[in-house]
Amino acid sequence: MTKRIALVTGGTGGIGSAICKQLADDGYQVIAGYYSGGKHEKAQKFQEEMAEQGYNIALAFGNITEWDSCEACVEGIKRDFGTIDILVNNGGITRDSTLRKMKQDQWDDVINTDLTSVFYMTRMVVNDMLANGYGRIINISSVNGEKGQFGQANYSAAKAGMHGFTKAVAQEVASKGVTVNTISPGYIATSMIMEVPEEIREGIRKGIPVGRFGKPEDIARVVSFLAHEDAGFITGTNVSANGGQYMH
Ligand code: CAA
Repeated sequence: MTKRIALVTGGTGGIGSAICKQLADDGYQVIAGYYSGGKHEKAQKFQEEMAEQGYNIALAFGNITEWDSCEACVEGIKRDFGTIDILVNNGGITRDSTLRKMKQDQWDDVINTDLTSVFYMTRMVVNDMLANGYGRIINISSVNGEKGQFGQANYSAAKAGMHGFTKAVAQEVASKGVTVNTISPGYIATSMIMEVPEEIREGIRKGIPVGRFGKPEDIARVVSFLAHEDAGFITGTNVSANGGQYMH
């Protein structure tokens, strides 16, 4: 059988690269989606580093906040590799601010990048998955979409919205072999949380019962599980992986 094809948006980032490696280890043809503001060098460097570690990860350029760019990205993958079997909607940003100071662009950028993109990318792949009678859509949300977070009205709204999307689409595609699930990572040790001021970050760490920030691999393991062919009875759910920071 030819390899199943997995696209990971934000695939060259902290959590994304761990997901790419895990899915490659699982035997998929992995494609790392990237944008980086059009800076291709960063993605090429990532690809070289992966190759040095023995991973054959393909790259696909696309701005997930633009419909046309998402369409071109997916069409290019179909041309070069075939239809996408596994989509991991992992790309996202933060623009933290308390609501009283939040600017319109901080709201728009986060909603577009973290939520609207999930609609665009899923929309681009879902009809092929339905036609193939198989698909796995995995949306990377956040603990802060579950509990809310001071300074993240935009991000918490986008990440919570992602799970509503998961539950709606899961119902629409369930009878055709396609599952849709959310993973809600807690605070994972990547550059994203290093942007949080140290004092606040340390306070957050103290509130994590396992006593540490998560590792990107902690999330990649969950993706691997949900992406598996044998996970076909799990759909429309949310898997929290947060070190016990939020239990509900
Ligand atoms: N709860 C209640 N009050 C709080 C508070 C909290 N958690 N934190 C601060 N305050 C209070 C302050 O004491 C201060 O009060 P006074 O005005 O009475 O002095 C006031 O709120 C400060 O409000 P400001 O609007 O001035 O806030 P700021 O500009 O100083 O800081 C912020 C805002 C930059 C968002 C900062 O709070 C922050 O960085 N918070 C962390 C946000 C966060 O967790 N981001 C996660 C990024 S990683 C990620 O998102 C990945 C993932 O999925 C987990």
